[in-house]
Amino acid sequence: MSGAQDRIPVMVPWLGEEEAQAAAEAVRSGWVAQGPRVAAFEQAFAERVGAAHGVAVSSCTTALHLSLVALGLGPGDEVVVPSLSFIATANAVRYVGAEPVFADVDLATGNLTAETIAAVRGERTRAVVLVHQGGVPADVEAVRKACAQWDVAIVEDAACAIGATVAGGPVGAGALLAAWSFHPRKVITTGEGGMVTTDDAEVAARLRRLREHGMNASAAERHASRTPVLEQYLEVGFNYRMTDIQAAVGLVQLGKLDEVVGRRRALAARYDALLAAELPRLRPVRDPAHGTTTFQSYWVLPEDGWPEGRDAVLAGLAEAGISARRGIMAAHLEPAYADHPHADLPVTERITRDSLILPLFHTMTEQQQDRVVEALAREAPR
Ligand SMILES: Cc1ncc(COP(=O)(O)O)c(C=O)c1O
Repeated sequence: MSGAQDRIPVMVPWLGEEEAQAAAEAVRSGWVAQGPRVAAFEQAFAERVGAAHGVAVSSCTTALHLSLVALGLGPGDEVVVPSLSFIATANAVRYVGAEPVFADVDLATGNLTAETIAAVRGERTRAVVLVHQGGVPADVEAVRKACAQWDVAIVEDAACAIGATVAGGPVGAGALLAAWSFHPRKVITTGEGGMVTTDDAEVAARLRRLREHGMNASAAERHASRTPVLEQYLEVGFNYRMTDIQAAVGLVQLGKLDEVVGRRRALAARYDALLAAELPRLRPVRDPAHGTTTFQSYWVLPEDGWPEGRDAVLAGLAEAGISARRGIMAAHLEPAYADHPHADLPVTERITRDSLILPLFHTMTEQQQDRVVEALAREAPR
């Protein structure tokens, strides 16, 4: 029986002395709100994901909201989203008064495809939020081609996909708008935090205004000016800023990105080998043909369901001191969307019912991994 001490968590962010120092330096500098460190983080991050501009914000949820505002979406517009996503994806559409239209996903990747989008697209469809679920890249080339024909804009929800690749480049490259998350469950973290990336300088300038109350001059610019700057508020904006303390941590984390993704991928490959030997009826998530995942989430799906149901397996693992998680949620099954009409979503419902996310974190040991697989073998179909 495992004690509380050796409980295996589902995720542990890889933070150390360097991040602590960087945060302390930001505090000592006296400038703790959005300032030079945010600007440096934006530039480094955008470069890393192959975009021209980065606009740091308070979360991926606010990044999605601002992206939809920037597209000019509002009441009467429809936005196709996967129901199979963290609920923030659908909620962001509601924030601008538009209607989320749930599309089904591909069984192997958990992502929308050009076909599943086409199945629900209507006259009023103005945009798609294309999620790279759990870090698995969606087939952006195929979806961009289809959406260009329909004149439908794409916002990429890349919350989990920092460091993923698609079509031979980083996820984010060539995106009209991509939204990212630095929550501690994600690949790299700033505590809370997010970013929008885009190649369009005018859109980036508007996003910068929108995150700061619609102001035409940032607090940092006013501080740096030798003459008084009388700012104007050009439109109704928000306070969605990131702090310089967070950005200082983000800069250090970004420097570790390759190592973090490499380690996650190595641990995933080891899980693959252990599961193939012990539990061949469990299908682990893997790289699609068009790219590579970050394994932000390592989920398994049994070929024919769990004998006692997935939640019994979760309980069995918890009993053995292992924090697994139910797989990705489905928004259309939540009370918040109970009255929301939707098409049939059989693949979404299968994945959300049966998938299970196993612990995976940078400092995970082989011994811990073995314990997870042993405990799973006691619960899972062979
Ligand atoms: C696909 C997806 N989109 C958006 C979010 C929201 O991110 P944040 O917590 O940074 O707002 C998450 C977080 O889990 C997510 O997984």
